[in-house]
Amino acid sequence: MEKTSRVSGFHKKSIGERIQFLKEFAELSGEETSLFGKGGTLDMETADRMIENVIGTFELPLGLVTNMQVNGRDILVPLAIEESSVVAALSNASKMVRSGGGYFTSSSDPVMIAQIQAVNLTDPFAAKLKILEHREEIIEMANEQDPVLVKLGGGCREIEVRVIDSLKGPMVITHIMVDTRDAMGANAVNTMAEALAPYIEKWTGGKVFLRILSNLADRRIARARCLVKKDAITPGPEIIDGMIQAWAFADADPYRAATNNKGIMNGISPVVIATGNDFRAIEAGAHAYAGRTGQYRALAKWEKNAEGDLEGSIELPLAMGLVGGATAIHPMAKLIVKILDVRSASELAEITAAVGLGQNLAALRALAGEGIQRGHMSLHAKNIAIMVGATGDEIEKVANQLKEENKIRVDRAEEILQSLRK
Ligand code: MEV
Repeated sequence: MEKTSRVSGFHKKSIGERIQFLKEFAELSGEETSLFGKGGTLDMETADRMIENVIGTFELPLGLVTNMQVNGRDILVPLAIEESSVVAALSNASKMVRSGGGYFTSSSDPVMIAQIQAVNLTDPFAAKLKILEHREEIIEMANEQDPVLVKLGGGCREIEVRVIDSLKGPMVITHIMVDTRDAMGANAVNTMAEALAPYIEKWTGGKVFLRILSNLADRRIARARCLVKKDAITPGPEIIDGMIQAWAFADADPYRAATNNKGIMNGISPVVIATGNDFRAIEAGAHAYAGRTGQYRALAKWEKNAEGDLEGSIELPLAMGLVGGATAIHPMAKLIVKILDVRSASELAEITAAVGLGQNLAALRALAGEGIQRGHMSLHAKNIAIMVGATGDEIEKVANQLKEENKIRVDRAEEILQSLRK
């Protein structure tokens, strides 16, 4: 019989029934099937409430970054990531950053933007002003949607109206700017935008289509800077010029900027994931911000100060929350927030920005010096050894020989393992 993925009422089935269906569909063995249906730190019941059609949970390694000091406070930062070297690189970079007193951070208010798109307007510029004439009313109506947020000190702060050109003619785009306090805020701002849409139609005579937040959260900026004393940099101060050259390359060339910023996100996304935040929102926001001038550029900046020390800084949108999302539900995310000991979503975002900056420092230092492969290959060699079946002591032995021979390859690992076992 033909296999079909068309299943009605799959969401109504029990977790066990879903797994049974999957087992038959994908022809899984009993052993394979046993990987589903059990939570780790995230229990099945909670997981089943978080998303639809749950069959299991998915784990990533969680590593602890040491040596970080942020605004004079020593912190430990857990990262959820599959890539080797990231945790070690950030711990190492943060040790160098301590020479300048650690990372220093700040942030804007946690202001999210939601967009309301009005079309079919022959008089877009008049429509824009008609909307702006209702500024106070709009702010008031938006705030009526979320009295709890207003009570907590948040709420709609400002509006902005833009006329944009599109392939479908001019569009009038209203932005509401909402301080969402400790929430990521997607639900709050989307509700407000939806409530305002009929009024925008009434005042302009246009037709509203989209009412949705913008992930280019450029009113919710987290900043971090650090200073690395020239004598604290390994291998030595002579590497600083190369690091600044590496940064300037990224800032000038989108091909390099993408990789440079990927390295920054190597730090940022794992904090976002570990704290149960929306990593797609953060990634989208960071990359859109990197391209906001029309050219995609480096997210951080590196310069040499008058003393010859290295100074780094980063500013980017980080729409992270502590309440209202998975952060407040996922048991491990809750614990990680406790370890970070943050009082607000802004403080969490600031630490996350510092993590991104430290990661960039580590990458530029390695790239301007020995390259990244030596560090990477050492862990990679162990992975290759495990892949060919090495266990216990064999892993280290196979990995060491692969490294010695500078041949970190599966075929060679198999040969080494065989000769070890003879
Ligand atoms: C690898 O995951 C990240 C780097 O490529 C970042 C960079 O090139 O800046 C090392």
